[in-house]
Amino acid sequence: MSEIKKTFLAFIGGSGLYDLPGIENVEEQEIATPFGCPSDKIITGKIEGKPIAFLPRHGKGHRFLPSEVNYRANIYALKKLGVTHIVSVSAVGGLQEKTAPGTAVIPTQIIDKTNGTRQRTFFGNGVVGHVSFADPYCPELQKHIAKACEQEKVTTHLGGALVCIEGPRFSSRAESHSYRREEASIIGMTAMPEAILAREAEIAYATLAFVTDYDCWREETEAVTVEAVMAVLSKNVEASKRIAKAIHKSLPMESSNSIFSAAANSIMTNPSLIPA
Ligand code: ADE
Repeated sequence: MSEIKKTFLAFIGGSGLYDLPGIENVEEQEIATPFGCPSDKIITGKIEGKPIAFLPRHGKGHRFLPSEVNYRANIYALKKLGVTHIVSVSAVGGLQEKTAPGTAVIPTQIIDKTNGTRQRTFFGNGVVGHVSFADPYCPELQKHIAKACEQEKVTTHLGGALVCIEGPRFSSRAESHSYRREEASIIGMTAMPEAILAREAEIAYATLAFVTDYDCWREETEAVTVEAVMAVLSKNVEASKRIAKAIHKSLPMESSNSIFSAAANSIMTNPSLIPA
C-alpha cells in the first residue's frame, strides 16, 4: 500500500500557455536547485482551497529551446514545493488522420528520439537506479484529464504514442513517415526527459497535448510552420485553461499512488558494500 499524500497539482505550460488565471493567494517562487534555475519563477496559490502550481516550460516570453529547458531543475523545484502530480501541457503535431489539428490527445506511450544530450536522470554520482518506465504516464491522472476534456467538450483521444524529437527543426517528410510506420500518434519536442524525471522524482505525471498541425506527412496539407502552429495554438489556449481548472477540481484532496514509491524500489546501489 502506498503512502497517502495531500494532493498538490502542478501544470507545466508548453507553447502558448504561459499563465493560469484564477489562482488565489498567488506567490511567485524563485527556487534554487542543485541543477541550476528552473525555466521561470513558479506560480503557486490555491483554487477553492486546493493548492496549485504553474511553471511555463519555455520561460515567460518563450526563451528556451526544447533542448535548452532545464528539465532537472524544473522537476526538482516542483518536488521541493511538495508537488505530487504534474499535468504537462504541450503543443504537438498529429501523425494520424484522427489526431487532427484542434483535437486534444492524452498519450499513453512515449518514443524517445532525442539525441541523448539532454540531462535525463537524477541518478548517477554513486547512486545507480533504474525506474520502471513501461507505462510512462499515470493512468489515474489521465482519467481526470479525459473527464475534464469531456466536460469542456473538446474532442480528445486517450491513447497512442508521442514521439519526442530533439528539434528545434521540424521533421523531414521521410522522418514523419517513419514515425507513422512506428504507429506514433503525435509528435513533440519536450516529453523527454520531463516524463522520466517526474517518474524518478515519484511524481504522478501525464500529458495533455493539443494538436496544432499535421507535421509534414499528409499530402493534402502544407508542411508545418510556426505560423500554422501559432494560429491553432491561440484558439486552444482558452480551452486548455478551462480544462486545467476542471482537472484541478476533479483531483481528490488526498491521494495514494504506486508512483509515489517508484524510485525507492529501483535503486541497485548497496551502501554497505561500497569500498571505503
Ligand atoms: N509541436 C507542434 N507541432 C509539432 C511538430 N509537427 N513537430 C514537433 N513538434 C511540434
